[in-house]
Amino acid sequence: MKRLLVTGGAGFIGSNWVRLALQRPDLERLVVLDKLTYAGNLANLAGLDADPRFRFVQGDIADTETVGRLLEHEPVDAIVNFAAESHVDRSVLDPSAFLRTNVHGVYVLLEACRAYGVGRFLQVSTDEVYGAVLVGRSTERDPLAPRSPYSAAKAAGDLLALSYHATYGLDVVVTRGANTIGPYQYPEKATPLFITNAIDGEPLPIYGDGKAIRDYLYVDDHCRAIALVLDAGQPGEVYNVGNDEEIDTLTLAEAILALLDRPRSLIRLVEDRPGHDRRYAVDSTKLRALGWRPERDFESTIAATVEWYRQNEAWWRPIRNGEFREFYQRLYGKRLGISE
Ligand code: NAD
Ligand code: TYD
Repeated sequence: MKRLLVTGGAGFIGSNWVRLALQRPDLERLVVLDKLTYAGNLANLAGLDADPRFRFVQGDIADTETVGRLLEHEPVDAIVNFAAESHVDRSVLDPSAFLRTNVHGVYVLLEACRAYGVGRFLQVSTDEVYGAVLVGRSTERDPLAPRSPYSAAKAAGDLLALSYHATYGLDVVVTRGANTIGPYQYPEKATPLFITNAIDGEPLPIYGDGKAIRDYLYVDDHCRAIALVLDAGQPGEVYNVGNDEEIDTLTLAEAILALLDRPRSLIRLVEDRPGHDRRYAVDSTKLRALGWRPERDFESTIAATVEWYRQNEAWWRPIRNGEFREFYQRLYGKRLGISE
């Protein structure tokens, strides 16, 4: 895997993964293709231009011509697909972009793999495709039961990729990762939203009773898992990525407030997200058998994440002042009683 196309590489996990991949001395070329939606940010890739192996191209994975033209000039051994619309709440407000990127975009990339002889396709999927799991842990063989437009579109992309292995013999691998947190996460997701609100002394909006359970994984741990699956995953196989921790939203918010020395009175229980999945939990035995272990537990993960946002206000402040404001008002205005 010496030449890579990384789609969605200007987003949160993608940009962290690109930094990790560029540490490999045997890597000859790494091209990022990213549409630069509201979530894509060239600041996430700052400094990488100095590496002659790195190239950034702005473009849409759902556009056949863009992808074809790129692969004609930049033959690659593998595509690692991070590109997606990624926020559940936005998918509730408007699912259309989710279908275009998370389903049609994956189809365009898969067809391009066939047309240009790309050796391996890694689809970065999510534990959300299993739907709400009230007891036990999802294994890779469990049926998918997504419950939001986001997770339904991700499930479609994930299954489509696997169908290209069964039908056309394409070398496809899929990862299904847990909730990931760390540097460069757009502050719409719960963790960076709570951290940046807490720093600004604003309320933390907690959906419902605050008892929904997630397994928070540090982005470096998730990135090492994706790198391992790219190198050592078996064709046509799926690998869950999880930390085996069960953290509810109130616990997450309390940990953030304690680390920032902010009062618990900033917590606001607000109207729930429609279709809010109560719990996700994956069994990552299969990935662990390849040699992966998370390096951080929840305590260390949340501490490192809070510290990064504390140190990098110059990164998130312009985001909070931009498109984000309108989105925040639309999603939380009524919930928090904020007038425009
Ligand atoms: P993100 O929203 O931060 O980044 C997505 C990136 O994709 C952005 O740079 C955006 O510009 C780009 N993009 C969107 N549409 C595109 C298109 N049509 N063509 C090209 N680029 C496009 O997302 P993230 O949190 O980094 O997630 C990355 C991947 O990991 C997604 O596929 C997501 O489903 C998956 N995932 C995320 C988590 C998580 O907790 N964040 C957990 C498991 C899996
Ligand atoms: P989020 O980061 O959006 O990830 P997920 O894709 O798992 O929903 O949310 C994590 C958890 O936090 C989830 O149970 C929903 C909850 N949540 C809130 O309580 N308030 C919020 O403002 C947000 C964005 C999420």
